[in-house]
Amino acid sequence: MRKPLIAGNWKMHKTVAETLDYIRRFRELVSGITDREIMIAPPFTALYAAGQEISGTNIKLGAQNAHWAESGAFTGEISPAMLKECGVQYVILGHSERRHIFGETDEMIRRRLEGVLSAGLRPILCIGETLEEREAGKTFEVLERQVREALSGFSADDLKVLVIAYEPVWAIGTGKTATPEQAEEAHRYVRGLLGELFGKDFAEKTRILYGGSVKPENIAELMAQSDVDGALVGGASLDPETFARIVRYGG
Ligand code: G3P
Repeated sequence: MRKPLIAGNWKMHKTVAETLDYIRRFRELVSGITDREIMIAPPFTALYAAGQEISGTNIKLGAQNAHWAESGAFTGEISPAMLKECGVQYVILGHSERRHIFGETDEMIRRRLEGVLSAGLRPILCIGETLEEREAGKTFEVLERQVREALSGFSADDLKVLVIAYEPVWAIGTGKTATPEQAEEAHRYVRGLLGELFGKDFAEKTRILYGGSVKPENIAELMAQSDVDGALVGGASLDPETFARIVRYGG
């Protein structure tokens, strides 16, 4: 049985003060929930303070990216070791905004994933097709390339803490959510690919989250799909009450 994970990717939003205010409200709204994991990923600048504030709660801390090296001449980057010092447990990698705005390649994402695993952190590997790729019938081809490239060279044992997030680019920030059937189809494909690459047991144990315009109104039908193991939420995670409603799906 895969424990659901409901994660909030705040992107470039919230100051340190706003982050602390959020956490003080949010932790009351989700206190006592243990049958699903809850994670928030504030901007880098708020991570240390957020780590202090969530200590002892059922909320886990995530980062929105990480470099592959422990340290070095990499202007603007953050090392996994630095994130770990803040109390980060999960690291989002390969988000479509990193890929399409900042030109991150599959190889860069593979290296970042290697650094995150080496530091004992849990990678959330984002994959997903653009509208053009979907309309051209290339969805599975794109997902296969992204998975194979990012996970090449690793064993099932290396990847036992891996989480995957299927985020169709055309659903991110658009209000156009994939239907539960579309999500299930993509998740089932990815799970089959993981089985081919790393064995059925690994595939069955690996959590695959859905991301792309998740809201309180659609989380329950998404979570009702057998291969959807959680959500990676953007805009709707920025308000504590709204995100708590998503976390409490089915409750
Ligand atoms: O990483 C999650 C994010 O890309 C989804 O954004 O605003 O569509 O929930 P949003």
